[in-house]
Amino acid sequence: MTTRKIQQIIQGQPASDGAGVKLIRSLGSANHLRADPFLMLDAFSSENPDDYVAGFPSHPHRGFETVTYLLDGHMLHEDHLGNKGNLRSGGVQWMTAGRGIIHSEMPQQENGRMRGFQLWINLPAKEKMKPAGYRDIQAEEIPVADVDGAKVKVIAGALGKTAGAVAGGTTDPVYWDVSLAAGKTFSQNIEDKTVYVYPFEGSVEIGDRVLKTHQGGVLGSGDTVEVKAGPEGGRFLVLAAKPIKEPVVQYGPFVMNTREEIEQAIRDYQNGVLAV
Ligand code: CO
Repeated sequence: MTTRKIQQIIQGQPASDGAGVKLIRSLGSANHLRADPFLMLDAFSSENPDDYVAGFPSHPHRGFETVTYLLDGHMLHEDHLGNKGNLRSGGVQWMTAGRGIIHSEMPQQENGRMRGFQLWINLPAKEKMKPAGYRDIQAEEIPVADVDGAKVKVIAGALGKTAGAVAGGTTDPVYWDVSLAAGKTFSQNIEDKTVYVYPFEGSVEIGDRVLKTHQGGVLGSGDTVEVKAGPEGGRFLVLAAKPIKEPVVQYGPFVMNTREEIEQAIRDYQNGVLAV
């Protein structure tokens, strides 16, 4: 049994995306700040409609998966396949862009708090061109586990005997939202996966290092993930997945293995055949 230590701290940076939505980007804020297979993690949180109301109008993706987890608010997803999904507080949208999807994500509220995350998970070369897929997971479909005083929303990956709302896949992702009271410790076995811990309320300690709010920690090798809540308690994401270990070439919303494949994606989009 080896407890994983923090290998790298990634400070979330203010950024803006879509039609001007303000957010904090940790993973993906620079090309070298990825944690295979995680490409990007954006956190958004605002009570000011000017920060979010413009939303994410129609845009393409190819070569990976996007996972949107809404803590507070209401967004509407629409895509070229004819999918239409309401994402409400506590819900998740799991989208596999595969060879291509063109979608929009627009706020359905004119005021109030909008808070959540978007995570990008890479796909291996052999799956980058598979057909697009999309799944809406309502808040009540997400199991909540009680582990040693921690309250955990098990979005993906099993936590003990609690199966996640999403399970399996090549990267076999773990996506847990953990609430932990001050001084308590959350401990779980996670083997053979990249692990990223991201506090979004309060702070946490891993080994002898502290992660403050919006500081993500990439953990080093080992089999046990041990996270202690700071003096005000902590709420954090635990993200884990099997690394893909392939070259990553990214151009905006396209993530492929080679430059040629990126050029092809741009041509396909311009010719209207990205997502057919
Ligand atoms: Co998108």
